[in-house]
Amino acid sequence: MKKLFLPLLFIIPVLLQGQGMWLPLLLEKQNEKDMKSKGMKISADDLYNLNKPSIKDAICMFGGGCTGELISGDGLLLTNHHCGFGSIQRLSSLEHNYVEDGYWAKSRDEEIPAPGLTATFVSRIEDVTALALQNVSETMAEADRQSQIDKNLDLLRRTTKREKWEDVMIRPFYDGNQYFLFVTKTYRDLRFVGAPPSSIGKFGADTDNWVWPRHTGDFSMFRVYADKDGHPADYATDNEPYHPAHFLPISLNGVETGDFTMVYGFPGRTNEYLTGAAVKQVSEVVDPARVEVRDKALKIMDGFMRKDPAIKIAYIAKFAGTANGWKKWIGEIQGLKTYKALEKKAEYEAEFSRRVNENADYKYRYGNLLPRLQELIQEIEPYIKGREYFYEACVRNNDLLSKAAELSKLIDIFESSGETMLVGKIEDASKRMDGFYKDYYPEVDKAVFAGIMEIFANNTKGDWGADYVKEQAGNRSGYEGLADYIFSRSVIPDKVKMQELLSKAPTEVVEKLRKDPAIVFWNTLYNAYTNQIQPKIQELQPQIDLLQRKYMAAQMVVFKEKKFFPDANSTLRLTYGKVNGYSPRDALQYEFQTDLDGVMEKYIPGDYEFDVPQKLIDLWKAKDYGQYATPDGRLPVGFIATNHTTGGNSGSPALDAKGNLIGLNFDRVWEGTMSDLNYDPAICRNIMVDVRYVLFIIDKFGGAGYLLDEMKLVKSKKKRRKR
Ligand code: ARG
Ligand code: GLU
Repeated sequence: MKKLFLPLLFIIPVLLQGQGMWLPLLLEKQNEKDMKSKGMKISADDLYNLNKPSIKDAICMFGGGCTGELISGDGLLLTNHHCGFGSIQRLSSLEHNYVEDGYWAKSRDEEIPAPGLTATFVSRIEDVTALALQNVSETMAEADRQSQIDKNLDLLRRTTKREKWEDVMIRPFYDGNQYFLFVTKTYRDLRFVGAPPSSIGKFGADTDNWVWPRHTGDFSMFRVYADKDGHPADYATDNEPYHPAHFLPISLNGVETGDFTMVYGFPGRTNEYLTGAAVKQVSEVVDPARVEVRDKALKIMDGFMRKDPAIKIAYIAKFAGTANGWKKWIGEIQGLKTYKALEKKAEYEAEFSRRVNENADYKYRYGNLLPRLQELIQEIEPYIKGREYFYEACVRNNDLLSKAAELSKLIDIFESSGETMLVGKIEDASKRMDGFYKDYYPEVDKAVFAGIMEIFANNTKGDWGADYVKEQAGNRSGYEGLADYIFSRSVIPDKVKMQELLSKAPTEVVEKLRKDPAIVFWNTLYNAYTNQIQPKIQELQPQIDLLQRKYMAAQMVVFKEKKFFPDANSTLRLTYGKVNGYSPRDALQYEFQTDLDGVMEKYIPGDYEFDVPQKLIDLWKAKDYGQYATPDGRLPVGFIATNHTTGGNSGSPALDAKGNLIGLNFDRVWEGTMSDLNYDPAICRNIMVDVRYVLFIIDKFGGAGYLLDEMKLVKSKKKRRKR
């Protein structure tokens, strides 16, 4: 019996290698020793401290979902090109295409205000679990528990000490077993300083996305401005550059296999502590549904984009967004399978159950958890599947029906609040129309509609919309006929007709919308969803969440020897690992680093993904790499390490053992995208752009070397060994 479980003793420590997104305030207690043993040369105190400047003061959430870091005492901020992309695009015009051509502000005057962009820094973090859970008992009904917690959090929010320019945010951790409070400050005057052209910042685009070896110079620069006292302020011409308590020195020493690295940033969402049943559901139901619908939508868009350059420009961003999730989920399905995630979960659960059964108290408290969770997960499965097909086919990839959903709300408002309310809402809808039609081609949307509605009808249940859609398609001799019918009669695909309609009297607008075939079609499917699917999910999901919370707590008790990091939830975390290549398949070994020669190997003149600017070719030919070259004369571009990252870590600084900046995180390797559910040190790698490439592009390529004057570059005298 003993022997059977022996492998687990090995698995647990191995799982911890590189795994984890740790809370900065607990580093000293949880990780410092381990980090030092792995090579860290600073202390936890240098990473997070309330009484003196620490590295956390240089790290911010950039916009809604990325990370940025300060690299000068004057608020110079570095993040990814794909994080700054939306802003750079909005600031561009026909005369000044900063996306295509790049941009370098030559002085502070040339920095371009980027309205809407924000940088949020963390002033302090507090464990508020005890206060959040005050008067909450194990036996309470879920609804009562939640309302007690809401009351507690509300009080906490109101009573927490903060400066006027600070905000307070409280988040659940460990599936709601603990609560942490964040006092933050959000700067809202950010200005665009510089970015390389897309042919560098987006090099490899969708083909190379999620893939190693990678050659993207994925960076852009902004500057954070503050009021005279250094506090957040609305944009004003007399705002001043923000002087942070700490900014990151930049190392020119380069990286080698085995080097200790850290990534400090704002990872969005992971699910590392699910049951095997839940992971199975993701890999066999959720991911495949999403992949199937997007596969179709992407193929159809691609067909149009290849034939018509104007369509290509219009759809490029939509295509990239759709493909990003699609590619990640395909990688996730494969990774979970290849690296035996379900087998590992089964083994883990067997050990959990063994320990629970050996201990009367555990048995009483946790004995039922796993079986009950499994039952519920099975029970909810058809509804989850229905929801995924509905959202992917009728909402996320369906422009016509998304717009129908929005317009249909106008009818609801008219019915519930009458005509006066409606006037303003119609104006709002009309304002949003330009954005919608700017990059919209009805023929593309129609073809996508036909393709994905067929998938929807074939994968959802009869009374969940399948019967209706099939019948409609039958009446119009197929899905293309159905699409023809709806697109030619609905007002939505036609900008002129739409504008005409919205300029009419509110009652007339509502009357016409009620009869619009796209809106009728949408409402039928939406009603099926809200009547048949949603209520069941609303009934079962809270039960699953409750048991998952208990299961999380139980794991932490039963596996006392194991260190648990909380799943990512868009809060500040630190992860650490080491620079290392990997073997994606039998007999294949990937090195840890790419260089400029590799960019030139991929170069396809004129191609939208793999073109290269002439100036870069010239620098490459001349081997004019300056101080950015490796000891053997190459120009490093990207590197990988075992840091545990996820979406939201884009733009996060990669730090060396001393806390110097060595790179900028921007992606993960495709074979390891399963790390959100099942981190495996054998295969999971984060991808970073080497900071030497960033500096080379700014200095040698961009001719903006003056930007380096405000940075702090460090280079040790010791010669590094050659590769
Ligand atoms: N895969 C990276 C992430 O998840 C990069 C996405 C942007 N790049 C792209 N080609 N879509 O955000
Ligand atoms: N590209 C992702 C982001 O924007 C990071 C890659 C990942 O998911 O690890 O956050």
